[in-house]
Amino acid sequence: MSSYVGELFSLHGRTALVTGGSSGIGQAIATALGRAGAAVVIVARRPAELAAAVRTLQEQGVRAAAVSADLGDRADVARVCAEAPRHFGDIDILVNDAANNIRRPMGDLTTDDYDRTIAVNLTAPYLLGQHFGPRMAARGHGRIINIGSQQSISAFGDSGAYGVSKAAVCGLTRSQAEAWSAHGVTSNTIIPGFVLTPLTAPAQAVPGRVEALAARSMTGRNGVPDDFAGIAVFLAGDASAYVTGQAICVDGGFSVH
Ligand SMILES: NC(=O)c1ccc[n+]([C@@H]2O[C@H](COP(=O)([O-])OP(=O)(O)OC[C@H]3O[C@@H](n4cnc5c(N)ncnc54)[C@H](OP(=O)(O)O)[C@@H]3O)[C@@H](O)[C@H]2O)c1
Repeated sequence: MSSYVGELFSLHGRTALVTGGSSGIGQAIATALGRAGAAVVIVARRPAELAAAVRTLQEQGVRAAAVSADLGDRADVARVCAEAPRHFGDIDILVNDAANNIRRPMGDLTTDDYDRTIAVNLTAPYLLGQHFGPRMAARGHGRIINIGSQQSISAFGDSGAYGVSKAAVCGLTRSQAEAWSAHGVTSNTIIPGFVLTPLTAPAQAVPGRVEALAARSMTGRNGVPDDFAGIAVFLAGDASAYVTGQAICVDGGFSVH
């Protein structure tokens, strides 16, 4: 890497916390940040998947560790706040990727569905931001990257609570940006299109759906987790210092087609 590109994009000396870092988009982002030089702590529930993801990161030369936690549980979120910095020091880059998507017609959603959705998809990002944001601001540097959805900006059938949570994530991003950008902490939302991951397995199982969604994008294909590597490194590094409060679509043109 030339020194110029390194100055813009290197994450050496930084520590990232990536929720959902054991699968899909979060795993690709954790890998990208790690390969750009950051030490990485990943968070998810299933220990075996976490251990495998940590091994894969370490095989690529990344300093990596994991915290197993259910982000739908506030006590677990508090434990993540306490435990994550013990591995490689203060968190400089917070990526809120973990989410669930309970797919039911709007009228069939239960209050429990709603609570579980909001807890993982919105409250956990809020609480992690409330913990790490002020600490980043006090140090004069930080990056928060929240993951939205097409449902941040438009409706999709049969996942209404998810849509509520993902629209709110954009508001959370703006509030975080407003609070801490003057102290060197940016917050931005990445808005994926349709990405082939375990989360979208139910949609992928519907005959013709994958092809129809690919055709709706301008690129003519659906997303893959590696499509999020570049934007994550950009938003985590010094090159994006003047980009804050934004929702950035990384969707092959899906949202504008
Ligand atoms: N795939 C798409 O098409 C798409 C489109 C738009 C937005 N997104 C967003 O992109 C992000 C990643 O999605 P993905 O498709 O990459 O999903 P994925 O492959 O299913 O990965 C989800 C990750 O979140 C973790 N997770 C889920 N619930 C959790 C909980 N309660 N506590 C802790 N960790 C939890 C999972 O691990 P455990 O199950 O072990 O906990 C896993 O590591 C999400 O925010 C999603 O809404 C995805």
